[in-house]
Amino acid sequence: MRMQDILTAIVYVLPAYVANGAPVVILRLIGSGHPIDRGKTLRDGRRLLGDGKTLEGLVSGLATGLLTAIAIQISIPWLYRGPPEYTLLPVGAMVGDLLGSFLKRRIGLERGRPAPVLDQLGFMAAALLLASLPYGPPSWLDSSTLTLILLVTAILHVSTNALAYLAGLKDKWY
Ligand code: CTP
Ligand code: MG
Repeated sequence: MRMQDILTAIVYVLPAYVANGAPVVILRLIGSGHPIDRGKTLRDGRRLLGDGKTLEGLVSGLATGLLTAIAIQISIPWLYRGPPEYTLLPVGAMVGDLLGSFLKRRIGLERGRPAPVLDQLGFMAAALLLASLPYGPPSWLDSSTLTLILLVTAILHVSTNALAYLAGLKDKWY
């Protein structure tokens, strides 16, 4: 694993991080949002997604993630192979996040309860998977680079959540 590949990997996944983190900040700024599931409950008596997944969060995550991707594409034109790839990073992050909440509700975890690994890595796994669909995985993405991305993501997720808690953006530290 070359040093350059490590830096490439971190910049590559940045749009997914931004998409995942923006909703927390935006929701704190605007106070509350409209739940994507409109309050719908499934036959298991649990919410489809829960109040933690709002339209405002989804739109702000997609918009800021896409803006980040376009800014990177302009600065480092060789990094992404085309718009389908860089668009699918924020889209994948949001899809993975929604899927994670869907699964948490199905196993009976209330909104905001922790699901270790899924909470930290679900969005990134989905982002990398979807972004690899149009042109295949990037050439520098081998198993050691992937492991490193997931490790850095888990550490960043835990530390930025703790910071957001200390800054009063979140009411739980995880
Ligand atoms: N958020 C949002 N809309 C989204 C994603 C996140 O409004 N699509 C906001 C919500 O305010 C949410 C916060 O970001 O509470 C943190 O996101 P997350 O940890 O994913 O949600 P949780 O509240 O923990 O809910 P869940 O148990 O479903 O993960
Ligand atoms: Mg959470």
